[in-house]
Order: sequence, then structure tokens, then C-alpha cells
Amino acid sequence: MTSSPRSLLLLVTGTGTSIGKTHLAVALVHAVQALGHSAAGFKPIESGVGGPEATDFDRLRDASTFHVKPSIRPVRALPAPISPHLAAADAGTTIELSELFSAVTALQSLVDVLVLELPGGLFSPLSPTLVNGDVARVLRPTATWLVAPDRLGVLHDVGAASRAAAADGIGIDGIALAPPAAPDASTGRNFAELPLVTRVVHRVTIPRVAAPEALAADASVATILKVSLHRVHQPAALQTMPDVTDLGEDRVVGDDDDDGAAPSLVPDDIAKT
Ligand SMILES: Nc1ncnc2c1ncn2[C@@H]1O[C@H](COP(=O)(O)OP(=O)(O)OP(=O)(O)O)[C@@H](O)[C@H]1O
Ligand SMILES: [Mg+2]
Repeated sequence: MTSSPRSLLLLVTGTGTSIGKTHLAVALVHAVQALGHSAAGFKPIESGVGGPEATDFDRLRDASTFHVKPSIRPVRALPAPISPHLAAADAGTTIELSELFSAVTALQSLVDVLVLELPGGLFSPLSPTLVNGDVARVLRPTATWLVAPDRLGVLHDVGAASRAAAADGIGIDGIALAPPAAPDASTGRNFAELPLVTRVVHRVTIPRVAAPEALAADASVATILKVSLHRVHQPAALQTMPDVTDLGEDRVVGDDDDDGAAPSLVPDDIAKT
């Protein structure tokens, strides 16, 4: 299987659940549109749906560019608030890699940038034979960001996820430390320690901003886009990225490989094999 050559795919995954993946993904969808490009946010698999709260699927679709919204449809919306592989079994179905691949690449053909959130953590199971990491490996995103909560335990979780990803051939391009609702004594100190546990160079700290639309304007989100777009090297420049505000070493690391050339966004001839 090969990915669509049409657009950029940004994968937002994480070390666990309820840590800020959707919040960041929605902000990224807004940020891309603020640059004048079309964007969609997509969470193809979701469990625990059917309650009064908006689903992640809804939050991401609602943030997407108008013309693509009708084309964004869930692959599985599962009622049981448990792991997707169990929720799917309860619903009498099995999640297949091929259908995920088809849904993602179909959406990619409709927008400049597709922001994809997978449920749970990078190694959460989707079926008895499939984990999120398998999807990441097959889709070969333009960039993959690992969201992790800036709280006690994160150094282990980032270290474990980074090593397992490397062993499984899954590329992680950056780590986004997300602010926990309840900070602990480690919050604010974990960022500087990440090099102890991971070789992933690009790292940002996400601020606590209640509205994803406002978070979209934060320099951390601009840095994620800039780093991600640097993953694509081709001459055609449809749009240059704005300068990223220097947040200092405590907020952004790894954005120092800028060769001075503005990254281009979404040429039609991005070749991903
Ligand atoms: N940077 C942030 N600033 C303020 N609130 C945030 C931030 N990140 C996350 N939140 C809040 O924390 C809660 C959990 O975030 P979110 O839904 O994005 O997590 P998630 O990792 O996508 O969870 P799930 O595993 O269920 O998909 C939400 O109420 C969200 O609004
Ligand atoms: Mg989510």
C-alpha cells in the first residue's frame, strides 16, 4: 500500500489517553487554515461515543475546512468506553488496517493537510492483530508527534514509547509535552530531561489554553507545523511559513536545523512511497 501523494499527513498520537491529543490536533487544523490552506482533522476510530459530550471526531470535523466536512465519516464509532479492540468486539466487528488506510488516503486527496488522531496511545490495540503503531508505520505520515503529559511518569512513558517505536520501525518526529489539568512537582521540569530517555530531537511544550482556536496561534503549534513541513523537501513553494517566535530552550528544542529556506506547503507532487 502507498499513501496518497496529494497532501501532508500529520499524525498526532501519544503515550496515553486524555492527555491533550485532540486539543492539539484541533489547534493544528486551525493553524493550517490560518496559513491559507485547507485542512481536515480526523479521528477514524473512537470508543465511548454516544454520550452528551462532543466526540473527538466531531471536534476535529467541526474545525475542518468547510468543503471537506461532509466527506469526513467515522470508520468506527463504538459505544463501549473501553479499548477500541474490545469495543469493536462488543459491537460484533473487527477493525481492519485496510479500511483505515482507505479512509485516511481518501481524505488526504481532499485537503492540503490532514491531521490524524488515533485512539489511545501509540501501542493501544485496535484489533487482536493491530495496534496504532502499525497504522502509523503503514501510513508513513509526513510527521508524527507524540503527545505526552508534563507530569510525573512522563520520562518513563516517553522513553518506553520512543524505544518501542524505533524497534518497530515507527518514526517519531517530535514530542509535544502537554500541560496536565493538575500540575505536579515535576511539571515544568520534565522538558529539559527528555534527552535522557529519547533521541527524538524536536520537542515542544504546549501551554494550557482552553480554546484550541487560541492555542493555534501559539508558537509551539507554529513550531510543530514548521518542523513537520521541513520533513518535505521539494522546490515548489505554495506558501511559506511565518517566522516562529523564539520560545527559548525551555519551550522548544530541535528547531535549529533551519537552513534558511522556508518550507513549502503542499505541492501536488509530494512523492511518498
Ligand atoms: N493545552 C491544553 N489547554 C487546556 N486544556 C487542555 C489542553 N490540552 C487538553 N486540554 C483539555 O484536557 C482534556 C483532555 O484533552 P483531549 O481530549 O485533547 O485528550 P486526548 O488525549 O485527545 O484524549 P483521548 O485519549 O480521550 O482521545 C480536554 O477537556 C481538553 O480540553
Ligand atoms: Mg482525543
